[in-house]
Amino acid sequence: MDTLPRRRALITLGATAAGLLPASSLLAQPAVAPSLDVPFVPTPQEVVERMLTIAKVGKNDVLFDLGCGDGRIVVTAAKEHGARGTGIDLDPERIGEARKNAQQAGVTDRVSFKVADLFETDVSAASVVTLYLLPNVNTRLRPRLWKQLKVGSRVVSHAFDMGPEWPPEKTDSVEGRSIYYWTIKPEHKRATKT
Ligand SMILES: C[S@@+](CC[C@H](N)C(=O)[O-])C[C@H]1O[C@@H](n2cnc3c(N)ncnc32)[C@H](O)[C@@H]1O
Repeated sequence: MDTLPRRRALITLGATAAGLLPASSLLAQPAVAPSLDVPFVPTPQEVVERMLTIAKVGKNDVLFDLGCGDGRIVVTAAKEHGARGTGIDLDPERIGEARKNAQQAGVTDRVSFKVADLFETDVSAASVVTLYLLPNVNTRLRPRLWKQLKVGSRVVSHAFDMGPEWPPEKTDSVEGRSIYYWTIKPEHKRATKT
């Protein structure tokens, strides 16, 4: 998705490279805010706990939270379930908060956080993927999950399902919040090869 500030910055960059504008034009640009597909809204802690319980997260798991916000799902998975985890977020401010939270929880040896676009992130190392995104973002992400995750990997989403093409195996609710659960099956891998 594009935003006006990002477009302006790219136009300036192109014009500068083409010699149409002096290099000092780049310095005059305001910092470009990341173009987020979903705003930051944290998952309540009770819902985090239930997501991790439904996915049976344990010490042998590698959990990826795509759009990790302040890192609460990854940090809880490490602190309460002994898992290793990676949080991905496009917003550097969120990643800064997540790192601080990991430090406070004493789990920096088991977690890492990275500023990155979830649509450009390789999730093949994950045994569990957690999501709190939006319906259209989940739907766009589904083919990547089918392609990259191993058979038996689990996916848990707060609030939104994956549309009619991937009905959940389990659903639950905590304090009026829906949770959806899927596992990767051989047929999903086959579907990505056709
Ligand atoms: C609804 S919040 C969920 C935060 C956290 N997972 C939780 O459940 O508490 C969505 C997060 O996705 C991040 N985000 C939005 N678009 C993204 C993208 N394309 N790549 C990576 N992160 C993104 C936002 O910065 C925000 O922190």
